[in-house]
Amino acid sequence: MNILNRFQNLVSDEILAVETLMRQQAEGFNIDLQAALDHLISSGGKRIRPNITLLVGRMLNGDMERLITLSAAIELLHTATLVHDDLIDGSLLRRGIPTLNSKWTPAATVLTGDFMFAKAAKLAAETNSVPVMKLFANTLGIIVNGEIVQMFSSHCQSDTDLYYKRIYSKTASLFETSTTAAAIICEANRTQKEYLRQFGYELGIAFQIIDDVLDFTSNQDKLGKPVGGDLRLGLITLPAILYFEQYKDDILTKEFFQHDCNPPIEILEKLILNIRNSSAIKNSFDKANSHIEFCLKALHHLPIGIERDALEELACFVTQRNI
Ligand code: IPE
Ligand code: IPE
Ligand code: MG
Ligand code: MG
Repeated sequence: MNILNRFQNLVSDEILAVETLMRQQAEGFNIDLQAALDHLISSGGKRIRPNITLLVGRMLNGDMERLITLSAAIELLHTATLVHDDLIDGSLLRRGIPTLNSKWTPAATVLTGDFMFAKAAKLAAETNSVPVMKLFANTLGIIVNGEIVQMFSSHCQSDTDLYYKRIYSKTASLFETSTTAAAIICEANRTQKEYLRQFGYELGIAFQIIDDVLDFTSNQDKLGKPVGGDLRLGLITLPAILYFEQYKDDILTKEFFQHDCNPPIEILEKLILNIRNSSAIKNSFDKANSHIEFCLKALHHLPIGIERDALEELACFVTQRNI
């Protein structure tokens, strides 16, 4: 993604301000913490959530300074969840560079994540909106609860409804907050707020479905993070759910479940290859695209203009992306 998409171009100056604000949070603190934060922020990331918040904010003529503060809070919260998530998943690579947990002890990694959560909360408070602070705290609770559910009761779980609940918690909830909090800052009316909530929710669901597809179809060089990890951890995502539904009597499927989703490596490798080459991939894309359609429907109730066009482009990018 070397050439900036329009949705990034429109708010590229504000994104720089968001990054500066995020970096500033470590000023005056321990130098290792400063270096870690600097390293994490410089490693990039798509900045999709702050792009959404800023574009929604501009579309509704909001105060850009408060929206930049809100966007920094959201991106810092997102980055902190990645720091902890990589430790939990044992992932050694993120955004093409070694993760913090690959270099530091679990204790130091947890503490760095905690520091970032604290600073994200401080930034959320600096928007001077109690409803935004409440939403922010509530969302963090939903994300953490989702990670706990994934850890304790999602192993070998191939129920579609539970899958959707899980991806709401871990991903769509923060997308929903990115749009809803911007609407609060801009004092949007109740109808606009509800359409924006729907837009964020549907976009977030589609985003995580595609993340789960890419875990099967992409490779580490392109994604900058390890692939195939979900099934190896016994985590059954949409492509696998659809595959197992279609091939429930297949010998590999039976062996996978007989081994409590932790089969010998040759079986796992074959299964991953089969899923990658099956119609479950296209079917997952179709599901993601239907959520994008819902999300665009909600968007079309919002003010016409270049920001709305850019948000539409961003929504289409979510299912077309390969990173
Ligand atoms: C990764 O999010 C975690 C998920 C919710 C799938 P992103 O794909 O937005 O990660 P970065 O910020 O661009 O690295
Ligand atoms: C991460 O989900 C979601 C959170 C950070 C809460 P994943 O585990 O699917 O994200 P990746 O694939 O490691 O980026
Ligand atoms: Mg992970
Ligand atoms: Mg993933």
